Amino acid sequence: MDAYDLLKPALFGLPAETAHGTTHRLLRAVQGTAVTDLLRDRYVVDDRRLRVDAFENEFPNPVGVAAGFDKNAEVPRALAALGFGHVEIGGVTAERQPGNPRPRLFRLREDKALINRMGFNNEGADAVGDRLDQEPLPDVPVGINMGKSKSTPLADAPDDYLYTYERVADAGDYFVVNVSSPNTPGLRELQNREALAEILGALDDAGASPLLVKLSPDLPDPAVEDALGVVDDLDLDGVIATNTTTSRPESLESPNRAERGGLSGKPIEGLATNRIRFVARRTDVPIVGVGGISDAAGAYEKIRAGASLVQLYTGLVYEGPGLARDINEGLLELLERDGFDSVADAVGADL
Ligand code: FNR
Repeated sequence: MDAYDLLKPALFGLPAETAHGTTHRLLRAVQGTAVTDLLRDRYVVDDRRLRVDAFENEFPNPVGVAAGFDKNAEVPRALAALGFGHVEIGGVTAERQPGNPRPRLFRLREDKALINRMGFNNEGADAVGDRLDQEPLPDVPVGINMGKSKSTPLADAPDDYLYTYERVADAGDYFVVNVSSPNTPGLRELQNREALAEILGALDDAGASPLLVKLSPDLPDPAVEDALGVVDDLDLDGVIATNTTTSRPESLESPNRAERGGLSGKPIEGLATNRIRFVARRTDVPIVGVGGISDAAGAYEKIRAGASLVQLYTGLVYEGPGLARDINEGLLELLERDGFDSVADAVGADL
């Protein structure tokens, strides 16, 4: 029996955002204490076959924490101690924002899913940048996911992203332009070719590197091809596929399926994997695969579909803190079963 078997019913008895806050405070309390070493012993899987080199970084394993879990860079070292091979901080916006009114995070228990309409609640680039500069960083790569401030008009988006970048530049091992969250009005319109070229071009000129773009699973094929055209033109470093979806699969059973916002978790697993495959067939840059991963088989499927790295958020809520370890151990078994020498060997095997 895992500790999470005891903790989960208590957390699930709380509203979803309160439970997230409690988990966060627990992680913050143990971070930097001797407990972190115990966690590390229990959860970190150290094996050279899991190591991935991608966009100028060495990742100890391919399983990372997706954006949204640690918006303000408060617990990256605790997450690394749970065995994650990278942590993506954010989304950070230039301005401090309260986000949308609560409730804004909903469990769809029957579906192993979440719907969120957080709306980029975060402390803002100044505060997050200061924390990243002042507190020790983890020994795994840290990505910074950047969003647009709600009050900034779409036309001024490049300056907004630039402001954030300049405040987090020293701490980030890679930088992500997030134009795919469904909860900031108009944001996803920035995925069109001209707007994307302007934002990514401004960041590229400012020296943001490695620079990745995170795409929505709801983007039609031609728009994905346009976005990849920009990635190619600017010689960018990678693509993250995918963010949450505003679609609602027929299969959803939970009453909360009617809530507005982005759906994540098990029901988007296939959708995200299809988008990864689509992107992988059209680009050579590394892909970070995210969407619905809750076990080693799911992570492996995304890797075989073309993802060099994977991330998860919702899986952590349903499966608990042992998930990165379980996935990494499971991946080693799957690699061995299929005769691959390393994760890198399996990337794109199904293409
Ligand atoms: C997210 N996600 C997200 N993505 C992003 O690029 N910037 C963000 O600020 C957030 N915030 C956020 C908050 C919450 C509460 C959730 C559940 C998700 C999306 C996340 O990074 C990921 O792309 C999706 O959740 C799909 O992965 P999972 O959750 O199915 O593993």
